[in-house]
Amino acid sequence: MSNGFVMRSLDEVRFWSRIMKEHSLFLKLGFRCDDTQLIHEANQFYAVFEEIERRSNAFTSETDPEVIKRFNVEVHNAASRIWAFKRKVLGLILSCQLPGANNFPLLVDHISREAFYFRNRLEELNTGRLDPLPDAIINENVFFLRIMADHAKFIGHLLDPSERQLVEQSRNFSHDFDQLLFQARDLESMRPQSQTVPLLDQFLDQNRISVKSLRDFKKTAKELIESCRIKSIIHPLLADHVFREAERFLIIIDMLESSLTKTSAG
Ligand SMILES: [Fe+2]
Ligand SMILES: [Fe+2]
Repeated sequence: MSNGFVMRSLDEVRFWSRIMKEHSLFLKLGFRCDDTQLIHEANQFYAVFEEIERRSNAFTSETDPEVIKRFNVEVHNAASRIWAFKRKVLGLILSCQLPGANNFPLLVDHISREAFYFRNRLEELNTGRLDPLPDAIINENVFFLRIMADHAKFIGHLLDPSERQLVEQSRNFSHDFDQLLFQARDLESMRPQSQTVPLLDQFLDQNRISVKSLRDFKKTAKELIESCRIKSIIHPLLADHVFREAERFLIIIDMLESSLTKTSAG
């Protein structure tokens, strides 16, 4: 347990607790106004993650690692609970018990996958059990490429159908990321033989190029939405949210790449 552990933990918790807080808001906005119990539950999660976010910002690199370890356990529990809530909502939608509500099933599944990822990261941090680098490279990319492919699909479906050009662009991104995801899964099934430095390095380079262009597209969409220049039912905060998740993926790609080149130089 060290300073590195504290900083890694705080970085994950600060990023993902804000994300979980916003998911609660998006869920709430998608419920029907009569679903007061679900709205109430969503509000409670919003408060829980807002408080976690506040506490994570109050800790510093000097905080006792044991304190952070206990904090991570608490956050882990909250992440598990919001995951269960999201899966329950998915069940209600898929059994047609929320007719007319406005959250796509894929979106609810998507945000539950993000909660599960967050939960796992906390577990890995606390037990010190990290994937070996080549596995981490493939696993992180399989996770995030799917997330990016979903985002492109959500944007395409939440833009007004009359925004033909932007809808078309979203569809192209969705297609590109589906292809990248298939490539990642191929690399996954070919492991461990596929885990050579040149192949992994090329894999990261290729993904980085596409994530950068999707990130730029999201940035443009976010600015257009914020200035009310395009027609959509996308909440400005959702536009910003998916933009931040692309930025996060880029940071992870760079981190993985630098560990990979360090390993191969050593
Ligand atoms: Fe998200
Ligand atoms: Fe997302």
